[in-house]
Amino acid sequence: MPSATPAGSDPAAGKAWAERIKELAEQRNAVILAHNYQIPEIQDVAHYTGDSLALSRKAAETDANIIVFCGVHFMAESAKILSPNKKVLIPDERAGCSLADSITADELRAWKAEHPDALVVSYVNTTAEVKALTDVCCTSSNAVDVVNSLPADKEILFCPDQFLGAYVKRETGRENIYIWAGECHVHAGISAQQLTQQTQDNPDADLYIHPECGCSNSALYLANEDLVPQERVHMLSTGQMITQSQKQPQNKVLVATETGMLHQLRQAAPDVDFQAVNDHAECKYMKMITPQALEHCLMEETDEVTVPENIANAARKSLEAMISIGNPGGGGE
Ligand code: 13P
Ligand code: SF4
Repeated sequence: MPSATPAGSDPAAGKAWAERIKELAEQRNAVILAHNYQIPEIQDVAHYTGDSLALSRKAAETDANIIVFCGVHFMAESAKILSPNKKVLIPDERAGCSLADSITADELRAWKAEHPDALVVSYVNTTAEVKALTDVCCTSSNAVDVVNSLPADKEILFCPDQFLGAYVKRETGRENIYIWAGECHVHAGISAQQLTQQTQDNPDADLYIHPECGCSNSALYLANEDLVPQERVHMLSTGQMITQSQKQPQNKVLVATETGMLHQLRQAAPDVDFQAVNDHAECKYMKMITPQALEHCLMEETDEVTVPENIANAARKSLEAMISIGNPGGGGE
């Protein structure tokens, strides 16, 4: 087991750790992918940092022998599905996702049986088994485009996130869409009251809202009632937040998503003052990927992520259908 943690208070130890990680990655011909919610040390040492869609694409196109996914389990599973011949590792296989856990394959099977002609659109925050029962996947950056690409007369079952589903329903104006009542415990906890209070305290700030948030409805309400000018309310995936930050005219932005996002935003637009709407919005699963876990993972080539071939083949179709429709996602590199 690796000995030292790159403590933030000890820059020399942090630098030595980062050098060991880069050396190990080179020896193993491994590419390190990190989600925008990872701790800063992991984001900074990764070859690519970005949102789920951008990282899926990187996984699909890499020449490396090993993909080390610093994120949560469903993301590493997607990488394995898209690159079945690569070895995919996650530094801690216990890094799950409360949203992915909110629908099981059996529950989706039963829901489909009630709507036999419907098409299933699943957010990528789902297990491989759920993706295998899905027609098209989506992420927060392309969910509206994905739903708009489907025939208007087809019923749609949208799962598992109720807030993203409500946002998609509103944006597409579609009535024949049924929404599963799942949620992410972190984003559901960013409330309308917190958002309202913060906008009152910071009347000149722009708002970046992840559509999984419990406050997403109220952000649109604030805009519709002209309590915050429409042009200052941005509903964005984590990758789109980075893109928006680089053309950001306001000097203050309130950010409603997991707090790991602030690190990338502050690097992308150092002159902008980014503040969390809820600074306790931390995903404990994302934070299981510690510096020691990443080093151990590269040294021992564990924890390996596998997906049974029949499930991977079916799930790949729904992921590839998404990739052929949606925008590329984004993030820093
Ligand atoms: P993004 O697709 O915006 O990266 O979000 C993934 C996620 O897990 C949000 O909680
Ligand atoms: Fe899952 Fe929520 Fe964590 Fe994202 S923030 S990985 S949706 S539990």
